[in-house]
Amino acid sequence: MRHAIIAECLDAAIAAPSIHNTQPWRFLPREHCVDVYADRSRQLAVIDPDGRELTISVGAAVLNLRVALLARGYKPLYALLPDPAQPDLMARVTIGDRTQPTYLARRLAGAIPRRHSNRRPFRSAELPETVLDELGEAAASEGGYLMIADPPLRDGVLGVVRRAETLRRTDPDYLVELAGWTAPEPGRREGVPLVAYAPPDRAERIPLRDFGLAHPARHAWPGVFEDEPTVAILYGSGDSPYAWLRAGQALERVLLTATANGAQSTLMTQPLEYADLRALFDDSAQGRVAQAVIRLGYGHESPPSPRRALADVLMSVPDEAY
Ligand SMILES: Cc1cc2nc3c(=O)[nH]c(=O)nc-3n(C[C@H](O)[C@H](O)[C@H](O)COP(=O)(O)O)c2cc1C
Repeated sequence: MRHAIIAECLDAAIAAPSIHNTQPWRFLPREHCVDVYADRSRQLAVIDPDGRELTISVGAAVLNLRVALLARGYKPLYALLPDPAQPDLMARVTIGDRTQPTYLARRLAGAIPRRHSNRRPFRSAELPETVLDELGEAAASEGGYLMIADPPLRDGVLGVVRRAETLRRTDPDYLVELAGWTAPEPGRREGVPLVAYAPPDRAERIPLRDFGLAHPARHAWPGVFEDEPTVAILYGSGDSPYAWLRAGQALERVLLTATANGAQSTLMTQPLEYADLRALFDDSAQGRVAQAVIRLGYGHESPPSPRRALADVLMSVPDEAY
């Protein structure tokens, strides 16, 4: 029974977003809990030497695991970095007592398979205040703070993202790393597929990450993007593996809440991968550190990016399990 619950919940965990769709996680199911490990072999040495984005990705998977358990009527108890002797053991999620699944848990769980990064032009980027408030609450409930940028700040943020994207285009190490995660091999179950790339913005206003730099993109024609993009900055407190795991959970909760409200999202984290550009976002007066930049809006559904099979991310089960 527990075996089946865990398998279902792991399907939810691996649907989480991850930097370059690296899926840098491994799971060790035990009788009453799942241990979630970072897979360092999938860390991006060029853009993520400290493993910040890797850890945020793992945090997002942990959030999905918690939500999936709750939606199935089990209280998820969890500990982050539970064993100092094993720094790659990012979380232990325990199946707690039975509980009545809340409407919110079911709503978030329902959004897990429907959330996809959408890099296409949005039809509209005007989110109602009620939705923006809900997104803010989602971040806050996981210890984050979501700042919706007003138009002047938004334009400043887009300028910094553009600066980072421009720097990346001439960075040969970046291009090699990107090439590795965008090589269009048939049947590939990791990396960013051609179908998920953004068309270039005709107005050159929204500098989404160009995944087609190393391998030619499918979109020959520029897209007409929204005039008034909605851009949010997700802040967390602190800048440690623990803080990144918290930020990953806050991020995924925000993205699922957007999906549940029919909105789409794209991450634009390029400037946070340069220390000097990232410092421009920091809000030291409040002790807040920027962990993600998110574009939000309404548009056509975006196709899913592939995932590795569950069997490929499971660690061997110890004899005493089950
Ligand atoms: C920490 C982090 C940073 C990311 N940065 C970007 C980014 O800068 N640009 C982008 O288009 N997608 C970004 N993504 C989204 C991933 O590329 C995406 O989650 C992955 O390709 C899987 O696709 P999916 O989100 O549709 O499931 C990021 C994801 C994470 C977790």
